[in-house]
Amino acid sequence: MNSQQKIKQLIDKREQAKLGGGVKRIEAQHQKGKLTAKERIAILLDEGSFEEYDMFVTHRCTDFGLEKESYMSDGVVTGHGTIDGRVVFVFSQDFTVFGGSLSETFAQKICKIMDQAMKIGAPVIGINDSGGARIQEGVKSLAGYAEIFERNILASGVIPQISAIFGPCAGGAVYSPALTDFILMTEDTSYMFVTGPKVTKTVTGESISTEELGGAEVHATKSGVSHFVVEDEEEGLMMIRKLLSYLPQNNLEEPPMTPTNDPIDRREDALNDLVPVDSNKPYDMLNLIQLIVDNGEFLEVQPKFARNIITAFAKMGGMPVGIVANQPNYLAGVLDINASRKAARFVRFCDAFNIPLVTLVDVPGFLPGSAQEYGGIIIHGAKLLFAYGEATVPKVTVTVRKSYGGAHDVMSSKQLRGDINYAWPTAEIAVMGAAGAVEVLEGRKLGEIKDDNERARYIEEKTNEYNEKFANPYQAAKYGYIDDVIEPRNTRFRVIRALRTLATKKDLLPPKKHSNIPL
Ligand code: HXC
Repeated sequence: MNSQQKIKQLIDKREQAKLGGGVKRIEAQHQKGKLTAKERIAILLDEGSFEEYDMFVTHRCTDFGLEKESYMSDGVVTGHGTIDGRVVFVFSQDFTVFGGSLSETFAQKICKIMDQAMKIGAPVIGINDSGGARIQEGVKSLAGYAEIFERNILASGVIPQISAIFGPCAGGAVYSPALTDFILMTEDTSYMFVTGPKVTKTVTGESISTEELGGAEVHATKSGVSHFVVEDEEEGLMMIRKLLSYLPQNNLEEPPMTPTNDPIDRREDALNDLVPVDSNKPYDMLNLIQLIVDNGEFLEVQPKFARNIITAFAKMGGMPVGIVANQPNYLAGVLDINASRKAARFVRFCDAFNIPLVTLVDVPGFLPGSAQEYGGIIIHGAKLLFAYGEATVPKVTVTVRKSYGGAHDVMSSKQLRGDINYAWPTAEIAVMGAAGAVEVLEGRKLGEIKDDNERARYIEEKTNEYNEKFANPYQAAKYGYIDDVIEPRNTRFRVIRALRTLATKKDLLPPKKHSNIPL
């Protein structure tokens, strides 16, 4: 072969690799409303930035006649490219080759890019669309999964890891996405479960569809396994780009600053009237967030799960922040098991990646009841407490209204190394609400009053007295637990100034192997 022929051979091989499992299977993929592995990468990355690794890799299996059937790339496209000019590593499972199933070489390809990403300090994005372990390869495939799991674990807290689920993801295969920071699923075309409907039926007798067992909706609302749900793959890939715009490349970098035209001292008069006069009335905390962040833009994480707490990324004065906020519009913003788990994980992510935390508090307390106690609210609530107390990133807290009992301590209070704690004049910071307090403190006296009217009058009088004395921010401010009581309309400016002041904050944990967070 002369050099021209050799170049032609290279071009032909590249063309062949592009076809994955062949034209027919690509058509079948499209018919299911799904894109191919390469199409997905092309949408995800900056145009022309993708550099593929290992397209000449093929499997080495000689069992079950597989030696006669092999495809270039072996069912996963791997490499690196850029998103908004920043390097990312990506693997994209190719369902057209053996159903995207994972072989020994397939796993090695993924491990290679994960190792590179760790050396360079760049995020890894995994696009999952796979029938699981390649059955013909037996335990080699299991070992391959475990090689990936170990890398997911070692990379956790070092580089951001994002998983898109664009097809099947079942059995032990779910655990690689589960070990990553964020899981994004497409409606209708993706599912995740450890055990599928058929085996579930055999073992437990329960009849359930794929969608009901592990579809996007289920994981967004019930299990909390997924963080984002999108209608289609293109929307999902754009959302990953958006998510990365809030994140640093690795744990040693600061998150990316973006210049903003939104004035940092923008006053929002509407905030002065946001909290209803009747303190038991709900309002939408999302309105507050929208009014204080740059250009009203934010990205909610797990928006449909534990809606009593909001977790979101936003920018304030160009600086990425993680926002945690109780949502009075849903279950009065109470802390329960799921809200605690959701927020704790978010706080830990932000802390691992140097993203300052802004906490907006309106919490009546923990949800009472046997369901919560038996479900372990003690341990789950402790997760959030632990996460806040351990976090060393700048922590700015604004108490908007209620901040009662244990929940007050949990929600980034001063004593959990909260850096700057503000309250609105509408704040109520106390051990418990007036009604409960009167019942406990005045129980004996109330028992002695026989006349109903007189009892009601007494309760009202004591409730007012308690409210007057305790349902305000000034008791807490008196002791320095609140640094300042601020006018609501100035919240954006005050928070941004606090964040800028805290930008060089250094805080440490005592030397230890690792903490023992109540898992
Ligand atoms: C090898 C596989 C495969 C697998 C699918 N294929 N899964 N090949 N190993 N695990 C092949 C099919 O033979 C078929 O080949 C092609 O991929 C497309 O599959 P279809 O079944 O035609 O597609 P579809 O109807 O869309 O169904 C997709 C599917 C189904 C639901 C994923 O293929 C399926 O149930 N596969 C088996 C899943 C499974 O049990 N995997 C092992 C789980 S255990 P042709 O040549 O016809 O195109 C596991 C353990 C992991 O994963 C442990 C980690 C610790």
